[in-house]
Amino acid sequence: MSFLANRALMTLRSSAQKQPMNRFLRLNNVAYDRTPASFEQWRKAKLPRIQFALECALPPATTEPPRLHHAMRYAVLGTGKRLRPLLCHAAGEIFSVAPDALDHAATAVELIHAASLVHDDLPALDNDDLRRGRATVHVQYDEALAILVGDALFAQAFNVLSQTPAEAECLTRLVKELAGASGSIGLTGGEALDLAAVGGTLDVMQLQTLHQMKTGSLIRASVRMAALCAGSSHPLIPELDHYANAIGLALQIIDDIHDITLDSATLGKTAGKDARDGKATYVSVHGLPMSRQHATQLIEQAHDSLQTLPGNTTPLHGLADMIHRHLP
Ligand code: IPE
Ligand code: IPE
Ligand code: MG
Ligand code: MG
Ligand code: MG
Repeated sequence: MSFLANRALMTLRSSAQKQPMNRFLRLNNVAYDRTPASFEQWRKAKLPRIQFALECALPPATTEPPRLHHAMRYAVLGTGKRLRPLLCHAAGEIFSVAPDALDHAATAVELIHAASLVHDDLPALDNDDLRRGRATVHVQYDEALAILVGDALFAQAFNVLSQTPAEAECLTRLVKELAGASGSIGLTGGEALDLAAVGGTLDVMQLQTLHQMKTGSLIRASVRMAALCAGSSHPLIPELDHYANAIGLALQIIDDIHDITLDSATLGKTAGKDARDGKATYVSVHGLPMSRQHATQLIEQAHDSLQTLPGNTTPLHGLADMIHRHLP
């Protein structure tokens, strides 16, 4: 495993040296251009790097046991907005962290996200058969294997994160950050609250807590890990937390809105399921117009919280807009 990860790291470094570095320098020259075109240029330059790092982080499908590794690759390497790795790289721009230093954290958070989706889709949870426009892992393979895929991806995330080129103290902080965000006081706890709320009623604060835990915690970890990668001389900036809390909640509200406003083909997942399953969502608690309004306000708050930050905030602004653009 560590051989694979080392090979991945070496390949990442040599590929970063071959061509993207020049591109990063050129991008740095237009770092304060806040136009959507500039953000798109940044995003499109980052996506191949993120995808390549994910490829390298997963054992080849031929590795024993091949069916498990095939399914892990299926779960991770399909389509997906790669929002969390993009956020990690975007927050790195605030601290001028070299992309090399962020690759492991960006990859690890996406592996946790992919694991959470595999488990979220299981018959015991949301029982969904469509994800990112194709069959969910338990449908494509089988339920037992999907459980193991989630387990293995969770473990692989920390394997990758532990190989971040940083000092031991920084590594410890990174692992603590991602573990906290993924576990019972973060994503997994949020999923438990989500299941416990089925068929019942939640008040506004309970729903917000649920959403912040199941979705917001990983979004927050994505930006906080970039700050940690910047080194101990950089404090964790409260404005970045405000930004992440706002877009994390907005993302889940917009996801709730999508569930009742879009069709399955557009969504790439089964539409209309939340209401059918008695899920507690922003739409079920607040109604559609107020949910839309709240999502828009949160995106505005996210933009505001970036105002006093140093460095290149264009990618963070752009990612907030990208989430908002998906609001139907
Ligand atoms: C989907 O997350 C689940 C939620 C937490 C809302 P994304 O909307 O980031 O899904 P992908 O990664 O692009 O498929
Ligand atoms: C969030 O909630 C999923 C996770 C935190 C894994 P949903 O259950 O609404 O996500 P989708 O709609 O299945 O992507
Ligand atoms: Mg769910
Ligand atoms: Mg779901
Ligand atoms: Mg949903």
